[in-house]
Amino acid sequence: MTRILRHRWWLPGIAAVVVVACSQLGAQNDATQAAVNAAFNKYKTLKEGKNADYIPALAKVDPNLFGIALVTTDGKVYTTGDLTTEVSIQSISKVFTMAQVIQEQGVDAIEKRIGVDATGARFNSIIAVEAVKNVAGTGAPEMNALVNPGAISATSMVTGKTADAVWAKISGIHNDFAGRQLKVLQEVYKSESDSNQRNQAIGALMFAYGYIKTDWKQAVDLYTRQCSIGVNAKDLAMMAATLAAKGKNPVTGKQVMAAAKVPPVLAVMATAGLYDDSGKWLYHTGLPAKSGVGGGIIAVSPGKFGIAVVSPPLDDAGNSVRAQKAITEISNALNGNPLAGNR
Ligand code: DON
Repeated sequence: MTRILRHRWWLPGIAAVVVVACSQLGAQNDATQAAVNAAFNKYKTLKEGKNADYIPALAKVDPNLFGIALVTTDGKVYTTGDLTTEVSIQSISKVFTMAQVIQEQGVDAIEKRIGVDATGARFNSIIAVEAVKNVAGTGAPEMNALVNPGAISATSMVTGKTADAVWAKISGIHNDFAGRQLKVLQEVYKSESDSNQRNQAIGALMFAYGYIKTDWKQAVDLYTRQCSIGVNAKDLAMMAATLAAKGKNPVTGKQVMAAAKVPPVLAVMATAGLYDDSGKWLYHTGLPAKSGVGGGIIAVSPGKFGIAVVSPPLDDAGNSVRAQKAITEISNALNGNPLAGNR
């Protein structure tokens, strides 16, 4: 007691520090929620773009669906709009299957078999397969795991004695990144399975040219299944935040992949995450990101936050119009651009 009394002059000082720290934290929280709300209000009535329709089930999704979520690397969650409706994850799944292969087999495995360069072609280009065939054997495939030929090959690289064993790993890493058990949207899976002849052609060619070394039909089927995993905006933001937090899910605390293996994943996202528009995206945001034709986009501000928006209408490059706009504004308002340094 005497000791406490002797040092009681400290107390007002400590109290002042606590009050200032809390108010700064509060201001930060307010600023983050305000940025999320502002982007939602600005774009909630925007009608640009069109749902993907080459997979019939995607054309039926409500185009007005609009949800935004941001999760910080210390696990704070900021949301607005629709957070319950699930869309199919589509190409965003390519990030996590690539992460599974890198986690399992190391960073060289993806670079040597598939490559880590932009193709400059659309995500399902057959010409890109022919181009990669021309450089096969040089040790420098000009492709990446985020376009369909590379993504189907990455799925084929996940090891397992049976299709179920491979699926357990693919779905497992998605669940760990999201921090909950995700389910396949069966209607989307069926619709895409009935209309994925182009991906079957890509799978067959990648097998013929030696990039897929296992059963290519199984790889295409599992790829189609991973694309049909249902997610909401918060799931996607949690997955992005796990990448932002060096591979540790900031809410469950699980180290989902080794911290040292995360930067190569982010590098491929930065180069090829928004396909033909990846350069334009990086120019304006500096954020590694990935889009999906279901209408989701995830983006990662390393060390700070993961953000995701779900809004189905897409632009000509296949990227959600409102997601691109909302993420750009929110991230820039929060100094999320890693290329601008730590501010
Ligand atoms: O392979 C496809 O066509 C779809 N499952 C995924 C395409 C996709 O999401 C492209 N992303 N913007």
